[in-house]
Amino acid sequence: MGDLPAERRLSDPAEIAATLFPPRDLTPEAIEAGRRLFAREARFVAAAAEPAAIPPDGLPEIAFAGRSNVGKSSLINALCGRRMLARTSNTPGRTRTLNFFALSDRLVLVDLPGYGYAAAAKSAVAQWNRLLRHYLERRAALRRICLLIDARHGIKETDRPLFSLLDSCGAPYQIVLTKLDKLRDAEIDEVARRVTAELARHPAAHPEIHLTSAHDGQGLPALRAALGSFAETAAPSALAGPATRG
Ligand code: GTP
Ligand code: MG
Repeated sequence: MGDLPAERRLSDPAEIAATLFPPRDLTPEAIEAGRRLFAREARFVAAAAEPAAIPPDGLPEIAFAGRSNVGKSSLINALCGRRMLARTSNTPGRTRTLNFFALSDRLVLVDLPGYGYAAAAKSAVAQWNRLLRHYLERRAALRRICLLIDARHGIKETDRPLFSLLDSCGAPYQIVLTKLDKLRDAEIDEVARRVTAELARHPAAHPEIHLTSAHDGQGLPALRAALGSFAETAAPSALAGPATRG
């Protein structure tokens, strides 16, 4: 996480990421493997409003958490190249259940309910918190939580309880900045620095952050590659064939 020379103005988000963060082992092969993985058939598996409705542990799982309206459902759709796999909305609170999506027979993506919007009833918030805690603390298949942060706003007070929960349950998590298309280059640089500095206080957080936009697709190949490393590996015979798409 080296300091940039003051005279250096970066413009390309990928360059900013490479300069600010430890270089990731992102080979062209890893990018291609991620692309192929996320081109596979994605399907809705289950929606859980209570612990009993959570499907049994199975494939390796990646969960997407964050404030309401931060773009969790949009990011899942964009990663999978689908428009309506996960339902999105301008109205905060669209996703109210834990929604499970299987990427072929390799990986499960979990769209978590958002938090932090004023209109939610206290009883509903308490119920979601219980469900979220239950899931995060007990899910054996859970490999990584992507904690989404709106790049326009950075980390807010309403994000703190989730940071605390993630830190306390030891779940491995990683920050994904969203809506990069809304920012100018200098603003991206600034928010990336602020968020990275903040992460030093959260040892359970992965030090790398991802810079993404579900709208223009920036950062998605790198995120697909990173998440692809958690996927179930293909059977040897399947490796030779083309990726399926559905
Ligand atoms: P909840 O389900 O309420 O928790 O929200 P969510 O985090 O799933 O957000 P959702 O994906 O529904 O997106 C909320 C709004 O943000 C929608 O209007 C999206 O179009 C918009 N949005 C999501 N991603 C992006 C992005 O990368 N860029 C821009 N400009 N807008 C985005
Ligand atoms: Mg949603």
